[in-house]
Amino acid sequence: MADRTLQGTGDPILASVQVPGDKSLSHRALILAAIAEGDSVVTGLGPGEDVASTVRALSQLGVVVKGDEIRSPGIKGWHTPETPVDCGNSGTTMRLLAGALSTSSVRAELIGDASLTQRPMGRLAMPLRALGGIFATSTNGTSPLQVGGAEGPVGASVTIDLASAQVRTAFAFAALNAEGDSTIDSPPGFRDHTERWLASIGRGKWVAATRYQIHPGPIEPASYDIPGDPSSAAYLWALAAIRPGSQVMTPAISLNPGRLGFLQILEEMGAEVEAVVTGALGGDPVGDVVVRGRSLHGVVIEGPLVASALDELPLVAVVAAYGEGVTTVRGAAELRRKESDRIAATAAMITALQGGIETAPDGFSVVGTGFLAGGTVDSAGDHRIAMAAATAAAYADGPVTILDADVAAVSWPEFYATLEKTWS
Ligand code: S3P
Repeated sequence: MADRTLQGTGDPILASVQVPGDKSLSHRALILAAIAEGDSVVTGLGPGEDVASTVRALSQLGVVVKGDEIRSPGIKGWHTPETPVDCGNSGTTMRLLAGALSTSSVRAELIGDASLTQRPMGRLAMPLRALGGIFATSTNGTSPLQVGGAEGPVGASVTIDLASAQVRTAFAFAALNAEGDSTIDSPPGFRDHTERWLASIGRGKWVAATRYQIHPGPIEPASYDIPGDPSSAAYLWALAAIRPGSQVMTPAISLNPGRLGFLQILEEMGAEVEAVVTGALGGDPVGDVVVRGRSLHGVVIEGPLVASALDELPLVAVVAAYGEGVTTVRGAAELRRKESDRIAATAAMITALQGGIETAPDGFSVVGTGFLAGGTVDSAGDHRIAMAAATAAAYADGPVTILDADVAAVSWPEFYATLEKTWS
């Protein structure tokens, strides 16, 4: 629970930074490699504690992960875990594994830390049970989860009311074990890593703009090279965007359209953004991104843009405070169900730094004045709040102290050192 105090120089920043491997793709690569029987190789895995939670959970199922190498007995040979499977702080680990396990013959209990135990899991019940999957939450719809031990799961068609990639992926992984094809539909804006990946190996296809069909069957062992995480790069892009004269370049980033909301917001606010596709992973574009600072103005963020910038919305509040005019986020009630209540935690952060912010049940409005003061920000145990506050420190009018700053290790253990190097 260590605190940390940071203060930038306030000068424009010129930097080129290789950010760590994408968290969403790391979880997916590990689980797909574990579903396959045999030896897979995953290079560039995200270094954070969440990805380590997936590695640990899979090892409880009999999957051996040694560095980049993954040896699995295949989902049909997964071991019944002797103790509850611990997903740590990672909602993605819990939801994706609950999906894969629910239609398998392996019975498991999934648990998490105090924060994960508060997060909503009931959203998985309808889609997984539609396939004949076994899935039970505690009485208030949270973990511990009891999953698996299904007999004869069959394909199903479902529509969910959230643009949630986690729920879509849990369903897709569950549907791979079913007899016959399945489809899932949802509102737009979600990251479609899983859909692109399954399509690239013949296990699925789009049947409408947001409706995807899963074609069950075995997954082969493979080699994956994970690109950089846009949700980590976002803090560096924000540094560049806020101060005219700055420029940050981040090579080999996942450019999945469902991850580009933050870049679109920076561009709409007035920053200069350049993204060049240089490759792909499983049908998912990868490329280099350059952001240059300009004077920023307020914008309205709503609709599908909310889902495609969801993890970056606390950071949007910081960027907006350093711009001019009002920035409003609406239709983002889901933010209250993340690692913290991110609407409340974002408001507390901006207020602690003497910025102007008002909240609503489904979002917030920030009054940009071009100024934030130093102050003390409670991370609320949430890596994205701690990292947004550290970014604010680059140009704040005094030192910013972050309480429980170590929580950044959930996604990027070297984050503060990297940030401080850009402004030294
Ligand atoms: C994720 C999807 C998003 C995101 C989370 C990671 C994923 O959650 O907020 O950090 O890897 O699928 P939802 O799908 O619940 O919106």
